[in-house]
Amino acid sequence: VLKTLKIEFVTLIMNHALHSTKKYLKGVRLMQVIIKENYDEMSKEAAQIIKDAIHLKPNLVLGLATGSTPIGTYKELIRSCKEGDLDFSKVVTFNLDEYVGLPQKHDQSYHYFMHDKLFNHININEANVHVPSGIAKDFAQYCQWYEDEIDKAGGIDLQVLGIGSDGHIGFNEPGTSLASRTSLVTLTEETIEDNKRFFAGDEAAVPRFAITMGVGTIMEAKCCLLVANSEKKADPVSMLVEGPITSQITASALQMHPNAIVIVDESAASKLKRVDYYKWAYENRPTF
Ligand code: GLP
Repeated sequence: VLKTLKIEFVTLIMNHALHSTKKYLKGVRLMQVIIKENYDEMSKEAAQIIKDAIHLKPNLVLGLATGSTPIGTYKELIRSCKEGDLDFSKVVTFNLDEYVGLPQKHDQSYHYFMHDKLFNHININEANVHVPSGIAKDFAQYCQWYEDEIDKAGGIDLQVLGIGSDGHIGFNEPGTSLASRTSLVTLTEETIEDNKRFFAGDEAAVPRFAITMGVGTIMEAKCCLLVANSEKKADPVSMLVEGPITSQITASALQMHPNAIVIVDESAASKLKRVDYYKWAYENRPTF
């Protein structure tokens, strides 16, 4: 009797696993690469995807990114909100990262950036906004708390991403485990160099550490939406889309994501080998 019960139990577990896998695989498709003529078009397309998601799910859990790239997207969202076409009152947000050592009100903190570029101009409920703290007392504990908050909110539905010139997402620098979780990280010299323009060109003023969602955390978002523009992003974008999956380019993990959308302008797409196919696939995308 025990033997029969054991077989039945194993069959039950296997069926369950198979069912979950099927459900999971249903959404699997190619990484969608959308090439737009310029920055404005890229921003409009990204904003439209976010708008559609909020219309579909008013209490969307939205992951947000900083950097100059998504500013145009945020402007579009602000415009729609002001025109009464978009309601953020139930939207919950989680930002990717924050510099360690900068208090919220520092004008280069990501907390400040997000309020300045988006939150202060939309009808979001401040209680629903999450930007990691750069001045936590116990970072290990804080990072775990941040992960738990994401879980409690039901997980991220749509994660907006930019890409660093070294191919990072969030602040997940080359070499970071592709399974990493939210943690305290050391920035690379390249990132410090890239970001000193925000600190009046003073490299010494750029924090050396950051707190960032891990690659594994980002990969759990139901949909990832990466935006990139300009020639400066042509190399990292080609590595992200067509290079090998490697911890040396943490954005390349998105090749394993079942629902990743990459929106680039023509300059950022200039080093992609299969541009014609991406354009063709976009023009002939299934509408059923
Ligand atoms: C920082 C952020 C990233 C962002 C990157 C690119 O490193 N941590 O999330 O993607 O900058 O910034 P930009 O859009 O200004 O090129």
